[in-house]
Amino acid sequence: MSNCSIQDILKRDPIVLAPMAGISDPPYRQVVREMGCSFAYSEMLSDNALIYGNKRTSKMLTISPNDHPLSVQLFGSDPERMAEAAKLVEQAGADFIDINMGCPTPKITANGEGAALMLKPLRARDIIRAVRRAVSLPVTVKTRKGWAPGRGDAVEIARIAEDEGVSAVAIHGRYREQFYSGEADWDIIREVKNAVRVPVLGSGDVFTPEDAKKMLDETGCDGVLIARGALGNPWIFKRTQALLRHGEVMPEPTAEERIRVALWHLRLQVDYSGEHMGVRQMRKHIGWYIKGLKNSSKVRGELNTLSSVEQVERKLMEYLATLEEPPMT
Ligand SMILES: Cc1cc2nc3c(=O)[nH]c(=O)nc-3n(C[C@H](O)[C@H](O)[C@H](O)COP(=O)(O)O)c2cc1C
Repeated sequence: MSNCSIQDILKRDPIVLAPMAGISDPPYRQVVREMGCSFAYSEMLSDNALIYGNKRTSKMLTISPNDHPLSVQLFGSDPERMAEAAKLVEQAGADFIDINMGCPTPKITANGEGAALMLKPLRARDIIRAVRRAVSLPVTVKTRKGWAPGRGDAVEIARIAEDEGVSAVAIHGRYREQFYSGEADWDIIREVKNAVRVPVLGSGDVFTPEDAKKMLDETGCDGVLIARGALGNPWIFKRTQALLRHGEVMPEPTAEERIRVALWHLRLQVDYSGEHMGVRQMRKHIGWYIKGLKNSSKVRGELNTLSSVEQVERKLMEYLATLEEPPMT
């Protein structure tokens, strides 16, 4: 457990792994941590699933000793249930609890959860208040620019969150209506930063170390969440630190590094999820690790038909050998 404030953590290293459902699980977090990420969010966890002891969700609350500082994200719409789930998160050893007010998925918003809370600021306030009362951990909120064009939800939610004593707010610069399309608006991150005194984390379209620096410089935000830019790319954390701390532009990982890390991630995933699930969960990750390498689409198609660790390892090693062949003269 970390006893540091979020401000101190971000001062030391402002680059943070974003919450990503189906991605920011314990094995992936282990990979990014060992590759330089200091502060990470979990995937979003359902309050009800935790309270009812759903096996899969409870397992998502696994926190290893090296997985700190960690913010565990909860989603839900009922203040009392969110408070109950928050206690479980605290008992599990998280360092922060984040409340999801940005998930755009219809299945979630139809229940009044995720981004739908932007439409019900009083409910959002009650949830933050109940969670804050239930736990002694610092609480944060992640939301979006707004529900739809014409609405200034982010500033309103951030002000409410600050009034309720949260330790930070994170803003994804897209409307709920946009899901993940179009360009993220970083102006809203600056607007929120100017509207509240708590630390603000920006999110949206940070794919390179240079993007992260630009977001920090242009918005004045205190931290930068990296989501899609970290898929198959855990190197982004170290490379961004090098740029921010020393102005150094570190080289991109080689094909061999990519494949070695993919193999290591595969092992961790299989230890966590078992061979059947782990190999399947790794298909998307391996696709991202090898993206852009020679013949990667063909190899990805072949990998997607394999179901044992051994087959996947052999295929990746064979693929690596083809990449290392000296060019024909
Ligand atoms: C696959 C995926 C899953 C995501 N899951 C969550 C989630 O569980 N909770 C959350 O607050 N945001 C979630 N997000 C949103 C990201 O945290 C981030 O705000 C958004 O992707 C914009 O950042 P990017 O442009 O760096 O990807 C998810 C995004 C992706 C791509």
